Amino acid sequence: MLRDASASDVVCFANIDAAATAFPWSRTQYEQSLRDHQCRVLTVDGAIVGFLVYTVGIDEAELLNVVVSPEHQRRGYGRRLVEDFIGINRGGAERLFLEVRDSNDSAIRLYQSLGFFQCGTRKGYYPAEQGREDARVMVYEY
Ligand SMILES: CC(C)(COP(=O)(O)OP(=O)(O)OC[C@H]1O[C@@H](n2cnc3c(N)ncnc32)[C@H](O)[C@@H]1OP(=O)(O)O)[C@@H](O)C(=O)NCCC(=O)NCCS
Repeated sequence: MLRDASASDVVCFANIDAAATAFPWSRTQYEQSLRDHQCRVLTVDGAIVGFLVYTVGIDEAELLNVVVSPEHQRRGYGRRLVEDFIGINRGGAERLFLEVRDSNDSAIRLYQSLGFFQCGTRKGYYPAEQGREDARVMVYEY
């Protein structure tokens, strides 16, 4: 089931992110996102398996993060979350943006398979194990 997030989901978001990524957002960042951004949650049998954070601007929306818990990955949940994001903003936004680590092949494949394409690069945008890593900027045009 897909639904909007509530304050009680924040701890779960931080735990899933810490398990799934090398550079997770903090609990404080998720609390801030709940206040300032839109957060969608995917549950299966009542348990949170993934979530997506986005922000809406004039004519566009930006995907800020999408995470599926490691034990639930490769079952189509990431795709469902991003499809939900595309669907929610249809009619409101003309295009969607996101940034993704250049090395994040699984996420890039997911986005490409849904129609996102690269429209730019942000040099050294992310911290990395050694130094910095570029971000790939991707866009989806309705
Ligand atoms: C990126 C992420 C959200 C994908 O979630 P997921 O539920 O595993 O993805 P899905 O099962 O819906 O897969 C959809 C498509 O993504 C691609 N994909 C996902 N995981 C992949 C992997 N490990 N290797 C290659 N392709 C992969 C495939 O194209 C896949 O389609 P297919 O299964 O038909 O081949 C998940 O890997 C994740 O949480 N990663 C850590 C957080 C992260 O990096 N988020 C992106 C921030 S920009």
